[in-house]
Amino acid sequence: MLAIHSLFVASLAISSSYAKLAWKDTKFLFTFGDSYTTDGFNISAGVNSPVPGFKTSSNGPNWVQALGSTFNVAGTKVFNLASGGATIDAKLVTPFEPTVLSIVDQVTQFHQFLAPKPAGAQWSSNNSLFAFWIGINDVGNSFSWTNVSQSQFHTVLMNRLTTQLDQLYADGARSFLFLTVPPTDRAPLILQQGPAVVAQIKPALADYNQQLRTTAQKFQAKHRDIQTAIVFDTQPVFNTLLDNAKTFGFVNTTGFCEAYQNGTPSQTTQTLPCAPVSNYFWLNSLHPLFTVHSSLALSIATTLST
Ligand SMILES: *[C@@H]1O[C@H](CO)[C@@H](O)[C@H](O)[C@H]1NC(C)=O
Ligand SMILES: *[C@@H]1O[C@H](CO)[C@@H](O)[C@H](O)[C@H]1NC(C)=O
Ligand SMILES: *[C@@H]1O[C@H](CO)[C@@H](O)[C@H](O)[C@H]1NC(C)=O
Ligand SMILES: *[C@@H]1O[C@H](CO)[C@@H](O)[C@H](O)[C@H]1NC(C)=O
Repeated sequence: MLAIHSLFVASLAISSSYAKLAWKDTKFLFTFGDSYTTDGFNISAGVNSPVPGFKTSSNGPNWVQALGSTFNVAGTKVFNLASGGATIDAKLVTPFEPTVLSIVDQVTQFHQFLAPKPAGAQWSSNNSLFAFWIGINDVGNSFSWTNVSQSQFHTVLMNRLTTQLDQLYADGARSFLFLTVPPTDRAPLILQQGPAVVAQIKPALADYNQQLRTTAQKFQAKHRDIQTAIVFDTQPVFNTLLDNAKTFGFVNTTGFCEAYQNGTPSQTTQTLPCAPVSNYFWLNSLHPLFTVHSSLALSIATTLST
C-alpha cells in the first residue's frame, strides 16, 4: 500500500477547485451514496447507534471508513447515510430492491435526524462536508434503455439531484464533495457482456460525469455562500491502479475469484487456486477491494487539504 499511496500523493493530487473547508478543519462528514459508500450505519436506529463492523462491499474499510480512521486528522465524525443499490430517485431509476434508500430518501433522513443538530451531531455549516458518490446504478441500470436519450435522461437525473442539494442547502449545508462514477466499463460485470456493451456504457459514464461537473458548478453559482462544491474524479485513481496492476500487485484486473465474491473471513484469506483475496482489484463483478478504497481516500484527503 505504501507504493500506491506515494504514487497518488505525487501524481493525483490534482483537484478541481481549492477547498475553503480544509480537511483538517472538517469536524463532520455526511456521506450519501450506494454500495460503494455504505458501511451499514442506520441513522433510523438513532444518531448514536453503532456502525456495524465493516459491512461494506470492499471486504474491509471503504473510502468513508478510511477517511474516518486512517486519514482522519481532525477527529472528524462521520455519518454515513448511503444505502446499497441506491439510485438518485427510485421513481427515475428503479433499484434492485424496494427497500433501497435512494438519494432522495437519504436526504430526507438527513433532514429528519441530523438537520435538527441533536446531541452527538451538533454540526455547523462551517465545519461540515457533505459528500456524494452516486450514479453507478443510475447509469448502470439506464445506459441500455432505448426509450430515452441517455444525455437528456442524465439531465433529468441532475435536476433531481439538484433539488436534493437545495434541500441540504436549506438545512445549512455549505461544503460539498462529489465523486464521479468510476470506470465501471472495466468491471467484470460489464466486461463479461462483451465489447459492444463496454462501448455502449463508456459514453454514458462520460456524459453523466460531465453533467455532474456542470451541476456542481451551477449549484455553487446559484448559492454564492457555498464554501466548496468540489468534483473529485475517481476515474484516474481506478485507471492508474488498473493500468499498473503489476506494480501494485493486483493479480487480475478483469476478473475476480468466485470463492471471495461475498466476502471472506479475513482480509488475507486464500482459497486455492486463487491468489489471496487482498491481491485482487475486484472482489466480485462490480465492487473493488478495500485497497482501492484506501488509495481513493488518500487521494480525496489530499485534494481536500490542498
Ligand atoms: C434501521 O433501523 C430502523 C429502526 O430501528 C429499522 O426499522 C430498519 O429496519 C433498519 N434498517 C435496516 C436496513 O436495517
Ligand atoms: C462557525 O459557525 C459557528 C456557528 O454555527 C460560529 O459560532 C463560529 O464562530 C464559526 N466559525 C468560524 C471560523 O467562522
Ligand atoms: C424506459 O424504460 C425503462 C426500462 O424498460 C423503464 O424502467 C423506464 O421507466 C423508462 N423510462 C422512461 C423515461 O420512459
Ligand atoms: C482474470 O479472471 C478472469 C475471470 O475469471 C479470467 O478469465 C482471466 O484469465 C484472469 N486473468 C488472469 C491474468 O489471471
